[in-house]
Amino acid sequence: MISLREWEPEDQPATRRLLIRAFGQPDEANLVEALRSEGAVILELVAEAGQQVAGHVLYSALSVEPADGSVRAAALAPLAVDPDFQRRGIGGALIHMSLPMLAHTGVDAVIVVGDAAYYTRFGFSPELAATLQSPFPPGDHFMALELAPGSIEGCRGKVCYARAFGL
Ligand SMILES: CC(C)(COP(=O)(O)OP(=O)(O)OC[C@H]1O[C@@H](n2cnc3c(N)ncnc32)[C@H](O)[C@@H]1OP(=O)(O)O)[C@@H](O)C(=O)NCCC(=O)NCCS
Repeated sequence: MISLREWEPEDQPATRRLLIRAFGQPDEANLVEALRSEGAVILELVAEAGQQVAGHVLYSALSVEPADGSVRAAALAPLAVDPDFQRRGIGGALIHMSLPMLAHTGVDAVIVVGDAAYYTRFGFSPELAATLQSPFPPGDHFMALELAPGSIEGCRGKVCYARAFGL
């Protein structure tokens, strides 16, 4: 049985193992640890299968400049599911559970860089993000989702990620 809950410090070694297995390299595990050290984490959830951490998602603070004080945004990165547990809906469940939690903490919009075929399932939109100034080359991989309707539509602000991303 799979259960979802907030990340706790004792999950650190298991989360690191999961991220290295899912991505096949330590970069994302290092990023997650740097985001925690920087105090940039807004929300972090894990999916547990028995005693095993099988999935993980992290949202970090993201500013949209010039800040007019009206957009409080979060970056969804990374999302990972252990290869032994993929295609069972765990990634989707982590996203579905986290979005209302983010809205509850006052996050107005979420930005993700990833595969549009996957993230548009959850309402992320390349079109919604198209007016933003992104540190990435333009394209469908850069997507936004509004938790507060109208919060980011047409916004031409510059997107600034937490320092740990090194952008
Ligand atoms: C991407 C990932 C988190 C999806 O987790 P998951 O639990 O397997 O996803 P779900 O079960 O919710 O959804 C599975 C569906 O998404 C699709 N899917 C998975 N990864 C995809 C991708 N990168 N692009 C497009 N579709 C993808 C699957 O084909 C499957 O489709 P189906 O429902 O039509 O069969 C997982 O594959 C993973 O950890 N991958 C390696 C790390 C990674 O690339 N993370 C995302 C970037 S931060």
